[in-house]
Amino acid sequence: MSIFKRVSVREFTEEAVADSDIEMILRAGMQAPSAVNQQPWEFLVCKDLAVIRSLAETGGYARSLKTAQALLVLYYRETVSHPMFTMQDMGACAENCLLEATALNLGAVWMGIAPKEDRMSLIEDIFGKIPNAKPFCLIALGHPKTDIKQTSRYDQARIHYYKK
Ligand SMILES: Cc1cc2nc3c(=O)[nH]c(=O)nc-3n(C[C@H](O)[C@H](O)[C@H](O)COP(=O)(O)O)c2cc1C
Repeated sequence: MSIFKRVSVREFTEEAVADSDIEMILRAGMQAPSAVNQQPWEFLVCKDLAVIRSLAETGGYARSLKTAQALLVLYYRETVSHPMFTMQDMGACAENCLLEATALNLGAVWMGIAPKEDRMSLIEDIFGKIPNAKPFCLIALGHPKTDIKQTSRYDQARIHYYKK
């Protein structure tokens, strides 16, 4: 199951990511649950390696972009009915994208953008603005350079049972 295999992958081979795989990842993202089904997401797909590499130079957080073969930028719409739930909706959307990438044997990593205003402005400077939307996160994509190994984080101590 993808959930137990998913890890953040930050080093990729030179193999390109198929457009059909990117489409599946976007389909998975849009399949996420959201408050009142408000679906606040917008997506930008970038396969321009020069742009991706230049973004890698903007900070350690973006180091995976040194070898990524594709980049997704997830945006959130500001004009939704229940904005107080938007960040939760977007988290579900981003996680769906990561899980689908794992299911497709791709590597991926989530890079936090919102609510850091410097990173949000940087993304808008590079990619332009999407009307009524703001950058939420980046997802680097590629074929993993090394084997993916996830270890269990199951922790019984974090589970609290209701007792009368
Ligand atoms: C909200 C959020 C922001 C993150 N930001 C970054 C980031 O900027 N750069 C990065 O390389 N990884 C980033 N990550 C990935 C985490 O570092 C990673 O999920 C965590 O260390 C657990 O490792 P795992 O994904 O391999 O299970 C982010 C993850 C989340 C959920």
